[in-house]
Amino acid sequence: MEKIGVVGLGIMGAGIVEVFAKANFSVVGIAESDAAVELGQSNLAKSLNRAVSREKITSEQAADITARVSWGTDFALLKDCDLVVEAAPEIMSLKAKIFAELDSHVKASAILASNTSSLSVTEISQATNRRSRVVGLHFFNPAPVQKFVEVISTDHSDSDVISTVVELAKSLGKEPAQIGDQPGFIVNKLLLRYLNHAVRLIDDGLSTRDTIDAAMRELAHFPMGPLELLDLVGLDTSVEVLNTIYDDTGLDTDGPASGLTARVNIGDFGRKSGKGFYSYEQPHVAATSDDDMAKSRVYVELLNAYLDSAREMRDSGYATESDINLGMKLGCGLPEGPFETIARIGSDRLPVN
Ligand code: 3HC
Repeated sequence: MEKIGVVGLGIMGAGIVEVFAKANFSVVGIAESDAAVELGQSNLAKSLNRAVSREKITSEQAADITARVSWGTDFALLKDCDLVVEAAPEIMSLKAKIFAELDSHVKASAILASNTSSLSVTEISQATNRRSRVVGLHFFNPAPVQKFVEVISTDHSDSDVISTVVELAKSLGKEPAQIGDQPGFIVNKLLLRYLNHAVRLIDDGLSTRDTIDAAMRELAHFPMGPLELLDLVGLDTSVEVLNTIYDDTGLDTDGPASGLTARVNIGDFGRKSGKGFYSYEQPHVAATSDDDMAKSRVYVELLNAYLDSAREMRDSGYATESDINLGMKLGCGLPEGPFETIARIGSDRLPVN
């Protein structure tokens, strides 16, 4: 593979462009409008500037990476690509439309991949005449940082296509796990239920934003609190993912909390819109709280529910213990996987005070 297309240039799409360009692929970034292309270009520039200022790469390397990417709004620019990754919003009709267009523009031997967070890859593939060459390739935010990717196969996926994509992911420095076409795959199914639970604690008046975020940063040693993480993932995306999972499980725990849907309804989508649980007019500062009892209660409640969900996922045969551990560590930057937590505490759950 030499040439990669990326369709959709939000923070995730621009991150995927960066991942491929850094691995020496020539990349074509496509978005629906000139403004969206400019946003993708500026997202890439910001991320590369950050890497230069941290002395991770030199400014010459940043310039080389930038030069490997071409941009536009016309799908015809993708015709020679060997793989195209779609990273559009989580709306099935939109993804189906994009895949139908990709099918008519991109050479027949190319693989078409969706970075969907939870939608059915099988259904997306039905918009094409090459169902055997359609897969899910799911990255995690920020894509240049998180090392985990999920490679999703459908009943129609060609096994050679899956192994090609798995090898490709490894060549990007990622750790891929293969999973069937199940709503939320591995990480989002666990993560979004946990994030939703945190919002419910606020909705029910049981805790506050700052107590919850401080609790999970300080006591669970997660890199971000659940509410700041929702702002990073996007509240709109989170509601869409939860709705897909809820349609499948029918469990109350998976139905989007009202504190999420209410914010989405007024256009507060998180970082991407400048406001979510936090406001991003000023640089974000992690929340703190001195209320140790309240933090401890939140930590025990959220962590136990998360560990229960992980055990349920393993015991149902949905995913293996090692893939679940790997996904939560390398997809979400957690210090350990849920089964490593269980082993460390010597019990399935933390004691409730
Ligand atoms: N783009 C590129 N690189 C970035 C970045 C970005 N947006 N944000 C941070 N980084 C890099 C930094 O350059 C730094 O790299 P270095 O260690 O090589 O110097 C590293 O990440 C750490 O950055 P910081 O020190 O500034 O910040 P933190 O240590 O606070 O880390 C974080 C930031 C990487 C975002 C960390 O907080 C984290 O891992 N958070 C959890 C994120 C998570 O859970 N993601 C998964 C969400 S689910 C998802 O995306 C799936 C979707 O389908 C919904």
